[in-house]
Amino acid sequence: MSGVNDIRGKFLDYFASEGHEIVASSPLVPRNDPTLLFTNAGMVQFKNVFTGAEHRPYDRAVTSQKCVRAGGKHNDLENVGYTARHHTFFEMLGNFSFGDYFKERAIELAWRLVTKEFGLDPDRLLATVYAEDDEAAILWKKIAGLPDHKIIRIATSDNFWQMGDTGPCGPCSEIFYDHGDHIFGGPPGSPDEDGDRFIEIWNLVFMQFEQEAGGVRHNLPKPSIDTGMGLERIATILQGVHDNYDIDLFRALIAAAEDAIGAKAEGAAKPSFKVIADHLRATCFLMADGVLPSNEGRGYVLRRIMRRAMRHANMLGATQPVFYKLVPALTREMGQAYPELRRAEGLIMETTQAEEVRFGRTLARGLTLLEEAVADLQPGAALPGETAFKLYDTYGFPYDLTEDALRPRGLSVDRSGFETAMEAQKAEARRHWAGSGEAADDKVWFSIRDRVGATEFLGYDTTVADGAVVAIVVDGQEVDTLEAGKEARVVFNQTPFYGESGGQVGDQGVAVAGDARFVITDTQKVANGLFIHRGTLESGTLGVDDGMTLTVDESRRNAIRGNHSATHILHECLRRVLGDHVAQKGSLVAPERLRFDFSHAKPMSREELAVVEVGANDRVRENDEVDTRVMAIDEAMQSGARALFGEKYGDEVRVVSMGRDGNRRFSVELCGGTHVKRTGDIGLIVLTDESAVSSGVRRLEALTGEAARQYLSGQRDQLRAVAAAMRVAPDDAAARVEALVEERRRLERDLEEAKKRLALAGPAQSEAAKTVAGVSFVGRVVDDLPGKALKGLADEARDAAGSAVVAIVGRAEGRASVVVTVSPDLVDRFDAVALVRAGSEALGGKGGGGRRDMAQAGGPDAAKADEAIAAIVAAMEAA
Ligand code: ALA
Repeated sequence: MSGVNDIRGKFLDYFASEGHEIVASSPLVPRNDPTLLFTNAGMVQFKNVFTGAEHRPYDRAVTSQKCVRAGGKHNDLENVGYTARHHTFFEMLGNFSFGDYFKERAIELAWRLVTKEFGLDPDRLLATVYAEDDEAAILWKKIAGLPDHKIIRIATSDNFWQMGDTGPCGPCSEIFYDHGDHIFGGPPGSPDEDGDRFIEIWNLVFMQFEQEAGGVRHNLPKPSIDTGMGLERIATILQGVHDNYDIDLFRALIAAAEDAIGAKAEGAAKPSFKVIADHLRATCFLMADGVLPSNEGRGYVLRRIMRRAMRHANMLGATQPVFYKLVPALTREMGQAYPELRRAEGLIMETTQAEEVRFGRTLARGLTLLEEAVADLQPGAALPGETAFKLYDTYGFPYDLTEDALRPRGLSVDRSGFETAMEAQKAEARRHWAGSGEAADDKVWFSIRDRVGATEFLGYDTTVADGAVVAIVVDGQEVDTLEAGKEARVVFNQTPFYGESGGQVGDQGVAVAGDARFVITDTQKVANGLFIHRGTLESGTLGVDDGMTLTVDESRRNAIRGNHSATHILHECLRRVLGDHVAQKGSLVAPERLRFDFSHAKPMSREELAVVEVGANDRVRENDEVDTRVMAIDEAMQSGARALFGEKYGDEVRVVSMGRDGNRRFSVELCGGTHVKRTGDIGLIVLTDESAVSSGVRRLEALTGEAARQYLSGQRDQLRAVAAAMRVAPDDAAARVEALVEERRRLERDLEEAKKRLALAGPAQSEAAKTVAGVSFVGRVVDDLPGKALKGLADEARDAAGSAVVAIVGRAEGRASVVVTVSPDLVDRFDAVALVRAGSEALGGKGGGGRRDMAQAGGPDAAKADEAIAAIVAAMEAA
């Protein structure tokens, strides 16, 4: 008997030995298809290789592909637990030929693997072919020697495989295994085909066409092969069991669940254990690929799966969270083949536990309500839609969980009543925003949001993804198409572009489809989760429903990531250096810089800035992993995560942690932004400025990474230029500058002195000593002496004259100052203050002050210097 891991390995090795490249499974969230919720077949990652749009260095490949069929088109969720073969998550083994071999070789390879390598009894095998495919029927006879009655022609779509409404497709041929006549069922195409006796194990698709939207089908560049074998199904046969849930892998998971819950997987309990084991795989693999529980899109499918498993654990008697405890059992079973499970184990366990705690709070009350509501229902009746909606809205019961709970009792749910109640709630919300006085422009976004739901943001995990256009808005109006050269704002169903929020600016980049090229210059997030991409269509045309490949400007985004993570580090450093009063008051996270506003009463000292900068860079070099958890808001607050006061948070929040502080994290913040993977990716943090924003709020500005390096190298170049100009080494530049400043100060002093002397010694620019009102009067006009030097000059002139009145008018930079001194023997006759006022008036000034022996004033009109002297003379004569 072979374990699942051996079977997977054998399949891959067999095709590798036949010249196939072993290619890793692609993620469960498809990046190359905007319409697909989850990867649901092995060929999804090769879609563009079949059509010739993409080339790979190999033309044969083999994979074991992770698939999820829940929510969306292929939805097996509601059947899981009640059948032998349904799964939400499963592994598809497949071999692929991209224009290399075709039907004959594909059938040969398949037949040899199942009969020789896997050793299945050829007598138990049958094949179906598409009714019109004579060639395949002949090949099965020739290669496998199957008798005619075991080559069954099927005319329906069962034997024509299509990925979806569009994409590569072709007739297919399926291999069936007969589990024996002790099990009910008939061969494919017979009335009893739905029984469990004849089970399809492998689908060989002869890829020949590409289906376009609108029904047109054209040939692929080269006929190709795509096959899919359910690993769990082949394992049942090779392990001699009939139910997929009896294979080794599921037995191990169910045993772990039995231990954790303390119940046995027997009788009526069996379906619940199947549900738990299946949903455990879907939960862990989805989270490992970046999907986290939420209320919309993929996250909501995950939440439905998780809550369904949690209800079944509760039915088995678990009153405390147990589902999360099963995660290590899965990692043990599948972690070697899928290392992403090991890498994400911590995140998966924490997120799952948080979801269990949250749902656990309302589960019991919801179930009580459900019991009361069904007490009066007759078998076959339906639960009123209103009640199902209340369970959904108030108690967090996804619709299908309610349906699942009623199914064993033969009860259903009034779906249309549920939808009516849901619609009524939306209409209420609409009324709210319609009357909220929003600008017309905003109303467009609310109505789009209402119609298409929130945009799914893929940008935490990727910067390239396909999205389908769901709305185009030009000048505030929705349009169906956009012509080249026109500006518009476009909404996609999903996007890797970050919409501006939380201080982080929106992404830029490009969306391309064929020759249509929409250059995106900004992305905004509006109306509760709608991402709008503003840009210009450079070429081609664009229409609603078009699929486009969206590519974010990665280097710009990387710079933003570095700045955002640096902001968190600086926030915590500031708090530790300045105190607990430091709280974020705003921030800007752009590609070229970051700005962080915080509460603090006084300017930071140079030492404080240095300590913050050194501490922040220590965190960078520590190179610790940055990780993100999604938590309930109250739980996040309890865990000590820093939140922004006054910010409105949803029920669930992202919590970003980085850095180490003993066995705790250095920084833990609520944040929806994008971050580096490790703090070392920030490279370097340089503080460039600290200033005041308003009273009690300071602003720190900083650069990181390449911008920080450029800044520092710019500073170094300037220092070199300064040093070169002074002809010293850069290390000596500061001392040299200090010496020069000191020297200059001395020279200025000397110069002033010299000017004063020159003014006293030089020829009078106005009347020199003369007699006015019977006393000696000296009146002078001097240029370019600072105001404070005038007084010294006046004193000197008065002392030289002995008994005299001295008036000096100084002109400098277009203004004039006037000083009057009166020798002690004359102060009884002349008041310096009155005289200086007369002079100042002539200069167009007012006032002036001092004492009777010395007064000073100024005036704007330097050209009137002589008039000022004359006015003083006149005032003396009048005294
Ligand atoms: N793509 C084929 C399938 O999913 C093999 O069945």
